[in-house]
Amino acid sequence: MTTTIRAVEPKWKGAYGEGRAKDYDQFIRLGAMNYDGVLDAVLRMVMTPPERILELGAGTGLLSERLLERFPRASLTAVDGSGEMLERARGRLARFAGRVRVLQRSFEDFTASRFEDEGFDLIVSSFSLHHMRHDLLRGTYAQMRKSLAPRGQVLIADYVLTPHAEVQQRYEDIWVDTRVENVRAALGKVLDRAQVKRDHERTKAAEGDNPARLDDQLAWLRAAGFEAVDCHWKHFCYAVFGGLKPAPRPEAAKPRIPCY
Ligand SMILES: C[S@@+](CC[C@H](N)C(=O)[O-])C[C@H]1O[C@@H](n2cnc3c(N)ncnc32)[C@H](O)[C@@H]1O
Repeated sequence: MTTTIRAVEPKWKGAYGEGRAKDYDQFIRLGAMNYDGVLDAVLRMVMTPPERILELGAGTGLLSERLLERFPRASLTAVDGSGEMLERARGRLARFAGRVRVLQRSFEDFTASRFEDEGFDLIVSSFSLHHMRHDLLRGTYAQMRKSLAPRGQVLIADYVLTPHAEVQQRYEDIWVDTRVENVRAALGKVLDRAQVKRDHERTKAAEGDNPARLDDQLAWLRAAGFEAVDCHWKHFCYAVFGGLKPAPRPEAAKPRIPCY
């Protein structure tokens, strides 16, 4: 008898197929609270104009496009596990030909290896890392440090948790209110709050959301060797945070050998 062992697909893979990719840009703007405000905060926190950027979870290229516009000397490597999302990114970024490299890879591949010695000046990720297992996310932060040039910067924008249950509940309620308001303003439809709440829980489970606490993530970045680690911007349960790779220490001056 032969036994077939099927690899279990991570949930994010199912969630970001063609169905989602084709209306993702509207989906994220109606679903996220102040999506463009989050991207603005990322752009404003870039400390030094970068030449080499790595983006993990580029999706349809919304942040990539803004980075390439803002930093005309930069090239960008866009990584995402979904071919369908990246297809949209390729179309959006076509006008930056020669400055963009699109790679279909999982973040877990990044953790296991790969971009060491590339010397990126900036690594960014928006709304993507909350799909990862926390032990792998810690490993990803360590890998980011290795893949950055000295004084390189990491900037993460993501959905994060607070340790305070009642505060978390309030954030979730604000998310539901915002979704109702966004849909009414954009489509003129009045949604039922309770239904929105149920749908939201279903979507998070289906996508395998696994957000981590902000304070834990800041600690993981410090443990990975980043300095100037901070949360730069926060809007309820969304945060933009990051740190800098330290400059190499100057070699200790050799003691002068006195000559007698
Ligand atoms: C919510 S979208 C965010 C896209 C974009 N950064 C934005 O701000 O609109 C999350 C993206 O992360 C990708 N993703 C999630 N988990 C991943 C993983 N483990 N490896 C590779 N890609 C992953 C999905 O394919 C999807 O394109």
